[in-house]
Amino acid sequence: MSEAASVARLPGFRDFPPEALADRERIFEAWRRVSRRYGFVEYDGPPLESLDLYIRKSGEEIVGQLYEFTDKGDRQVALRPEMTPSLARILAERSRALPKPIRWFSIPQLFRYERQQRGRLREHFQWNVDVVGEADTGADAEVLAVGLDGLRALGLGAEDIVARVSDRLLLTALLEAEDVPPGSHPAVFQVIDKLDRGGAEGAGARLRDDAGMAASAADRLLDLIQEGSVERVRSMYGDRPVVAGRLEAMTAYLSDLDALGLGDFVQFDLGIVRGLAYYTGIVFEIFDRERSLRAICGGGRYDRLLELVGGEPLPAVGFGMGDVVLAELLEEKGLRREYRASIDAFVIAASPKEHHLALEVAAALRARGHDVSYALRSHTVRKQFKMAASAGAVAAIVLGPREVEEGMVGVRDMRSGEERSVALADLRAGRGLADG
Ligand code: HAM
Repeated sequence: MSEAASVARLPGFRDFPPEALADRERIFEAWRRVSRRYGFVEYDGPPLESLDLYIRKSGEEIVGQLYEFTDKGDRQVALRPEMTPSLARILAERSRALPKPIRWFSIPQLFRYERQQRGRLREHFQWNVDVVGEADTGADAEVLAVGLDGLRALGLGAEDIVARVSDRLLLTALLEAEDVPPGSHPAVFQVIDKLDRGGAEGAGARLRDDAGMAASAADRLLDLIQEGSVERVRSMYGDRPVVAGRLEAMTAYLSDLDALGLGDFVQFDLGIVRGLAYYTGIVFEIFDRERSLRAICGGGRYDRLLELVGGEPLPAVGFGMGDVVLAELLEEKGLRREYRASIDAFVIAASPKEHHLALEVAAALRARGHDVSYALRSHTVRKQFKMAASAGAVAAIVLGPREVEEGMVGVRDMRSGEERSVALADLRAGRGLADG
């Protein structure tokens, strides 16, 4: 291996030069703004956790993707592949002291050793929004509303994205109605989870062979997944009390979302089951309408996880939204903002004699909260104007020997090219520049 290759960036990891960081920050800002608008508060945890936290709780798929190692103290550790187990661990210690429901959000960087492909990297940032301590579907609706509003804040509308919602308990009740033994349910869930990837044809055979479903039951299930509606499920299975109860919950959930003005964004879809093991009720994923990308967001109810990590038994619901797929969708929809450097002013010294005055003026303006730069060594005025332009300066402050002697400076509007004379004293006192 050449020396240069040996220090290359690892596959699946990203650098964030200023343009890329600006994209990322814009997404984070929207996420934070919307979280706070809904009354959520931000938390974080350590990027490295005990391996134990993920074993059995997250499910096989994610455990197979762990960045795990033994540390120098002989502890088995893993980089966090998701935030939910950390949230459960943190709350297991403190939830008793907190008023319920708890509304927390976080934007952690996560690590999964996955095969790198479009929309899938080995690190990503994920917006996590969770409500803990409320079992009613009102909490499920609130959580999905936050996620959809986060996407709306970035310019996406119902023509661009759709939340596909389902309920694991409803699906379980349907399987019971079809006499599928509980031991086979996980196999059915797996086939459904892979439906998009495997296609419907193979799915029928797998439901029969892997999950032991009768051919007619497998056909009915696949048909419901493809053409399902709450009404259709009700007409076929509504006489079963468990199914009826779950349909009632789904109807309450959907009507809350409607009342929140989000009805156009939501679609009932029994094909959503979610790959993670801990979900216990309503689940959802948000996709681009064209389905050219993987899920942007996934979440649902997980009422037993806190107890599993040793905390009080508290119902919980939340989601994770990744920055990678979202950035691709924004690009596709022309919603990415071009990056432009920008500062309020660039101070130009006409000759080395004004250099220290330039520093003084910059310091005075910075102290007033303006973003200000200047040339770090002496340059021609022409060159300094170029530097001002590439720094994105709104104004150039020109210190010329004659003007300075009279206590004046030139302030040039870099867009219009107009220049005015401003008293140096005024400028130092914060007058003569646009507010920073
Ligand atoms: P998840 O479905 O594993 O859920 O991930 C949520 C989202 O994170 C995905 O829809 C995807 O956009 C993004 N994502 C996941 N893995 C990658 C990757 N390797 N590269 C890029 N993006 C990725 C969870 O993690 C749950 N813990 C979410 C949750 C929170 N459930 C309840 N609360």
